[in-house]
Amino acid sequence: MINLTIDGKSIEVAEGTTVLEAAKQLGIKIPTLCHDDRLKPFGACRLCIVEIAGMPKPVTSCTTPATAGMSVQTQSARLYRLRKTTVELLLSDHPNDCMTCIGTGECVLQELAYQYGIRENRFAGAMREHKRVDHNPFITRDQNKCVMCGLCVRVCDEVQGIGAIGYAERGFEAKVIPPFGHDLDCVFCGQCISVCPTGALSGSIWSGKPRMEGVKFTDTTCTYCGCGCNITLRSHGDQVIRVESKSDNHNRGWLCVKGRFGFDFINSTDRLTTPLIRREKGGHFEKATWDEALDHIAKKFNEIKEKNGPDALAGLSSARCTNEENYLFQKLFRAGIGTNNVDHCARY
Ligand code: SF4
Ligand code: SF4
Ligand code: SF4
Ligand code: FES
Repeated sequence: MINLTIDGKSIEVAEGTTVLEAAKQLGIKIPTLCHDDRLKPFGACRLCIVEIAGMPKPVTSCTTPATAGMSVQTQSARLYRLRKTTVELLLSDHPNDCMTCIGTGECVLQELAYQYGIRENRFAGAMREHKRVDHNPFITRDQNKCVMCGLCVRVCDEVQGIGAIGYAERGFEAKVIPPFGHDLDCVFCGQCISVCPTGALSGSIWSGKPRMEGVKFTDTTCTYCGCGCNITLRSHGDQVIRVESKSDNHNRGWLCVKGRFGFDFINSTDRLTTPLIRREKGGHFEKATWDEALDHIAKKFNEIKEKNGPDALAGLSSARCTNEENYLFQKLFRAGIGTNNVDHCARY
């Protein structure tokens, strides 16, 4: 363990802790734009700069390890001026589009501009003009709003293990693109959207849907598989309009393409809301109660077993079930019915 002082407060932290993490433990907020606790530090945005006694220039707290006896200052007139200039430079070629941007209300850049009171920009000049390519149904990329924080590139590599996007060009022309500027072609998990601090990345199916006004947030569990990822549904009226996940849950905010984007079934008018039974051969499906449906299944199972033996029956279980449910399912078939004909849809 090492002792250091931040803004006059002493703290003991484990070796390897960064100055930013140590400040967080003390409840001291340092502005960041390219940092995410779940990813490796990157040091791209320079907003998290702090002054350290004995060092001639401010350093980035997210990449600087705490050392014994260190004395750190996170707020000063100089740091305020430098951070404000950094935000001004980011905004100097950023579209003034907050009113129609899908990121508004939760955009870190917008919040920083508000906090530093930036209305006019003394660095106004050339603007980047990236052409968007969006031929997939999931992710909309608006590169003119990209601040090159690198969070999307890192999450795709470090968490998803795909590496579908990377940096291209240099300086003013620098951008994040799929290889050779091709269309994005990946697993469409949407992890990159979830970490993007601006409106540069968004879900295509969110477009035109309410952003914050009248939106209700409901924490629940994804129904797609037994992992049971924690999700938060955004709904407006009786329509679910977006799925997201908080970073402090067991899935750490990460979701798969189904959990994040496959929610249109919730509002589908085709959705089954009761069991259906075909009572006669060649007949139509008719609505039934659960008791009726389960009695019907038990009766048919017994008839088949009596006539053709237990191996005439087979069970196919679902990946939506938990391990415990799948255990009970195979038990029903092996011990209850007497056959080993049991399989699972997730087994390739
Ligand atoms: S990305 Fe943020 S700052 Fe840029 S237009 Fe959208 S809300 Fe405004
Ligand atoms: S959707 Fe997933 S795989 Fe595709 S670029 Fe984003 S993080 Fe990578
Ligand atoms: S697209 Fe978003 S997450 Fe990716 S580098 Fe740009 S601002 Fe950062
Ligand atoms: S948060 Fe440290 S450089 Fe961006």
